[in-house]
Amino acid sequence: MEATNSLLDTAAIGDLVLLDPLTEDSLLRTLRERFRREDIYTYIGNVLISVNPYQPLPIYTPEKVQEYHNCNFFAVKPHIYAIADDAYRSLRDQDRDQCILITGESGAGKTEASKLVMSYVAAVCSKGEEVDKVKEQLLQSNPVLEAFGNAKTIRNDNSSRFGKYMDVEFDFKGEPLGGVISNYLLEKSRIVRHVKGERNFHIFYQLLAGGSVHLLQQLKLQQDCQHYVYLNRESCSLPGVDDAANFHTMQDAMRIIGFSPAEVTALLEVTAVVLKLGNVQLSSSYQASGMEACSIAEPQELQEICELIGLDPGTLEQALCSRTVKARDETVLTTLSAPQGYYGRDALAKNIYSRLFDWLVTRINTSIQVKPGKQRKVMGVLDIYGFEIFQDNGFEQFIINYCNEKLQQIFILMTLKEEQEEYVREGIQWTPVEFFDNSIICNLIENGKNGILAMLDEECLRPGVVNEDTFLTKLNLLFASHKHYESKETQNARHVMDSSLLPQCFRIHHYAGKVTYNVTGFIEKNNDLLFRDLSQAMWAARHPLLRSLFPEGDPQKVSLKLPPTAGFQFKASVAMLMKNLYSKNPNYIRCIKPNETKAAMLFTPELVLAQVRYLGLMENVRVRRAGYAFRQLYGSFLERYKMLGSQTWPRWTGSDRAGAEALLAELAFPPEELAFGHTKIFIRSPHTLFDLERRRQERVVQLATLIQKMIRGWRCRTQYQLMRKSQIILSAWFRGHAQKNKYKQMKRSALMIQAYVRGWKSRRLLRELKLQQHRHAAAATIAAYWKGYQVRRVYRRYFRSDASTRLANFIYRRLVQKFLMGLSRNLPPLSVMDRTWPPASYKFLANANEELRNIFYHWKCKKYREELPPQRKALLQTKLCASELFKDKKTLYPKSLQQPFRGEYLGLTQNPKYQKLHAVAKDKLVMADNVRKVNRANGKTVPRLLLLTTEHFVLADPKAAQPKTVLSLGDIRSVSVTRFSDGFLVLHLKETSTGAAKGDFLLVSDHLIELVTRLHQTLMDATAQALPLHITDQFSTRFQKGDVAITVVESDKAGTNGPVCKKRGNHRMEVLVH
Ligand SMILES: Nc1ncnc2c1ncn2[C@@H]1O[C@H](COP(=O)(O)OP(=O)(O)OP(=O)(O)O)[C@@H](O)[C@H]1O
Ligand SMILES: [Mg+2]
Repeated sequence: MEATNSLLDTAAIGDLVLLDPLTEDSLLRTLRERFRREDIYTYIGNVLISVNPYQPLPIYTPEKVQEYHNCNFFAVKPHIYAIADDAYRSLRDQDRDQCILITGESGAGKTEASKLVMSYVAAVCSKGEEVDKVKEQLLQSNPVLEAFGNAKTIRNDNSSRFGKYMDVEFDFKGEPLGGVISNYLLEKSRIVRHVKGERNFHIFYQLLAGGSVHLLQQLKLQQDCQHYVYLNRESCSLPGVDDAANFHTMQDAMRIIGFSPAEVTALLEVTAVVLKLGNVQLSSSYQASGMEACSIAEPQELQEICELIGLDPGTLEQALCSRTVKARDETVLTTLSAPQGYYGRDALAKNIYSRLFDWLVTRINTSIQVKPGKQRKVMGVLDIYGFEIFQDNGFEQFIINYCNEKLQQIFILMTLKEEQEEYVREGIQWTPVEFFDNSIICNLIENGKNGILAMLDEECLRPGVVNEDTFLTKLNLLFASHKHYESKETQNARHVMDSSLLPQCFRIHHYAGKVTYNVTGFIEKNNDLLFRDLSQAMWAARHPLLRSLFPEGDPQKVSLKLPPTAGFQFKASVAMLMKNLYSKNPNYIRCIKPNETKAAMLFTPELVLAQVRYLGLMENVRVRRAGYAFRQLYGSFLERYKMLGSQTWPRWTGSDRAGAEALLAELAFPPEELAFGHTKIFIRSPHTLFDLERRRQERVVQLATLIQKMIRGWRCRTQYQLMRKSQIILSAWFRGHAQKNKYKQMKRSALMIQAYVRGWKSRRLLRELKLQQHRHAAAATIAAYWKGYQVRRVYRRYFRSDASTRLANFIYRRLVQKFLMGLSRNLPPLSVMDRTWPPASYKFLANANEELRNIFYHWKCKKYREELPPQRKALLQTKLCASELFKDKKTLYPKSLQQPFRGEYLGLTQNPKYQKLHAVAKDKLVMADNVRKVNRANGKTVPRLLLLTTEHFVLADPKAAQPKTVLSLGDIRSVSVTRFSDGFLVLHLKETSTGAAKGDFLLVSDHLIELVTRLHQTLMDATAQALPLHITDQFSTRFQKGDVAITVVESDKAGTNGPVCKKRGNHRMEVLVH
């Protein structure tokens, strides 16, 4: 609504095509009125005119971006976003590469416009991590390039001192993939010189203001701008510009683009070197030969530069102060005068900086470039220096204006000439519109044979004396009659008096006005030569970046071929640019500068009118008004709009033109709005096109809905089918599984029932069979008995009455016989220890068998005894006797079982000491042993030798081996021993005996059991009387002094060697035993 109003508002019409009447005045008035209303953008058809407001306007907000996103170009207020949106959508939807040509004077707002276009495209294209990264990198190339390539000029505080063309590349979805930046002709002379009131490139001021103390120290720089000759010493800082903040922004931008910290440092080091080179002072002197020479006045700066770049100061000093000249085969080193030295120094600084800038662009390109192989669409944005007319115009202005001339040519070709030619070509009725074609000026400058640039190159390459005068003379000669060329000489020839044109100048009548160029410096700047000594010195530096900037300094690669001139290079790159632009669909933004003082909202009509004129805006409007707003090949047109016609949708089988005609006839547009060319359809007014587009959009929505509906339907159907199929498979599996389980269960149950039934049947059968068997057996038994009975009854009379007894006896005998025969075969071993005996085979034989067993055992023992030798027999008898005497009566007895009862323990025969005793014993010795005799008085024991013979019991002194007591066995009345396991015994003597004078003997023997047993046996043999043996704990004994009661006490105090006897008074004695 707003846009339509703005278009219809005659005082400030938005599209100048609708201006009525169309005059320069009305056009200017409209622009001014719109400018006053802060509508800085105006259309001429689809060309955007932008008037710099020099103040921030609230028309670039995100809401505005949304408003213009996917807008219809003619339906919204003129805006740069509308142009950007149109271009982006054509690129995305119609697959047409686009270029946005932004032209205008310096300070007209080109760079700002290009940034707005870029930021708009970045805002509307889709988002995503990768896409955002690419967008950010593309946008961040601006602060970096502006820091190094922009500077404050009188016209613009942020003037681009290089031309920039950026191709942004998109994929088929319209997402940015990357880009390529091309730069054109950096104004490097600004490094060493600039007009008063201007500044050097921003980077130097930014570095000094924003670099940390550490960084500046590292770069050997001082913070004060005043210190540097190359910098503007009057106004280092600009009002409203924060160099330090910009420096940090630039550093951040580099990081985002992908510069490594090492690369940033190297870049800043080379920048510092350029700055410091300006401070290298030379002093002039004279050599002995009278030749002028120069030397470094203050070595400090040179020293620091060399430290930064890793070069020997001597090498740089020599390169700055002298020059190697090759004359034939000789190499001569000539000294340079101080001005020559300064010239070389400045050339070096300029070269380093411009090459560094080229490196910077290449490095950014490396980061943002798109990987090869991807299909892409391209949107080019051209922001190139505007047309420049200064008081004193040099080589740079000439080149810049040439470039602008070429851009104007493109504009003319594409919008005016091309358009009119097209009408004629297509056979559309057409009244031609007059316009100025600037091809003649372009030709004047660039003609390969005799253009100004070609002449300049020729002069530069020509041997002999070459200077600007000869160059100018040549131009004067060539273009004496050229309409657009003027010089003092041609004026003189035409008798024109013009004091403004100086002799060393020539003037060109550009499309934008007349510009007078001073030829001074043309040759030198075109040659753009750097002394080889200097490039070699730079190559010799160890600083990798700096070294890489001067590949020609490599002595290995010395080439005598001169490098291409600056003019030649520029012409080639402009030609390339033009080719590139021609291949794309152009979108124009024509920037207008409203005043010279950068004042906000100030409109100077004269200044604007001049620009309106040279930009050819009037002609532009006129052609657009006379012509048609839109044209397209029938094929493309039909393809785009065929969905609007019932006949053409979805397929048209006839020719494209017939299709377009049928379609438009159906849409019923007024006939004057349309024209049918040979190959294209032409639509006169934008409104018709807008209408067409609107209808298309509505139809597209309908169609999209239809497609969506179909696809959704199809998807749901397919999904349903799939689900159904899956469901069937699932249920089939499930049912199968359930049935299988059921079957298994049934089978199990059937088997079980079967098993039970079979079992039951079998058991029943078994029962029956058993019963049958029982019956059979019973029947058989009964039958047998019965038969037996019958037989017996029959045979009874034939048997005697005792037949059965005899029969039974016979059977018994047979069984006994069989048993005994078996026994005789199976007799157990004859060992007396073996008590085994086979069991009885019949119960009635058990007693007999037991009896037989005892008989057999006794028989075995008897046989054993009979076979024993007499000694062994005697010993066993002794043992038997001991058992009878002591078994179960004295605890000592079980121990004696192990003792062999040797009898002779003293070794009387072997030991000569016992000779006497031996004599006593002679052959009658029964036992000889060591005993201890208890002293009757105190109970203590003394050792004695004991000899028992068949007649005597002898006690002898062990030392003397002399018998002390000899008792006849008949003197022994009885013997008493304890119940315990001691060897204590009391030998009770008959009172009448001779040996009994001192009383009974108390003895302790280690072989008590043997001693008593042998005594018993001997006594038995001698007297046929048993020895009375008392095994008791209390007994009385008789001593010389009377009877003594002996009590046996079990005590721990008893020694291990035998009992301990304690006398308790005269008549009591205790024997302590274990
Ligand atoms: N759309 C705008 N809104 C507000 N200010 C603007 C706008 N366009 C330009 N300017 C102001 O004008 C100044 C100059 O603009 P810009 O640098 O874009 O000029 P230019 O055409 O690129 O000049 P040059 O050819 O010297 O590079 C900007 O610094 C800014 O202050
Ligand atoms: Mg600019």
